[in-house]
Amino acid sequence: MNQLPKAPESLRYGKVKIVFDRLTEGDTERGFAPGYHFKILNTNCVEVGHFNFRVRDSEHVRLAAGHIGYEILEEHRGHGYAGDACLAASQWIADIAQKVSQEILITTDPDNIPSIRTIERIGATFLDEVSVPIGDPHYLRGSYRKRRYRWRPASIV
Ligand SMILES: CC(C)(COP(=O)(O)OP(=O)(O)OC[C@H]1O[C@@H](n2cnc3c(N)ncnc32)[C@H](O)[C@@H]1OP(=O)(O)O)[C@@H](O)C(=O)NCCC(=O)NCCS
Repeated sequence: MNQLPKAPESLRYGKVKIVFDRLTEGDTERGFAPGYHFKILNTNCVEVGHFNFRVRDSEHVRLAAGHIGYEILEEHRGHGYAGDACLAASQWIADIAQKVSQEILITTDPDNIPSIRTIERIGATFLDEVSVPIGDPHYLRGSYRKRRYRWRPASIV
């Protein structure tokens, strides 16, 4: 964990500021990659959701979770905050990805239209649709297939 590059305190894009909250522990045995957790604030400094960037690969990351995660609280959806959060982090993520030679995958359930639209808006490229490994936490909560996208952050903004 302590080998991860330091996170920026905050980053802005569009209608959001993302504020570094904490590093998230990995769990090698379960394939959970360590990463960064940010709060997403809107222009009124109200916390509207969170954004994660996972560093390193595992089967769980490549076939289920992806490297990027986001969630917007229900009452704050509809403003494109998740896409703005990705774009706020994009240059920083591009720098890390280059340093560690990591490609950035973003995954989504095939029926998650707001997430698909978010991923398309930030310029990620559709790769394929895969089966989630049996026993993966996503599988256990009923998420059996994932659409996978490759994101070259900072390449479109
Ligand atoms: C995915 C999520 C973060 C997006 O939140 P958001 O930033 O508020 O996104 P928005 O509601 O502004 O929608 C983004 C886009 O999807 C479109 N959209 C939203 N709901 C839609 C629907 N039911 N049908 C078609 N399009 C829809 C919006 O019009 C918008 O499109 P635009 O960019 O062309 O304007 C949010 O829905 C969420 O937290 N979901 C639960 C957690 C989750 O699924 N996380 C992603 C895991 S991969």
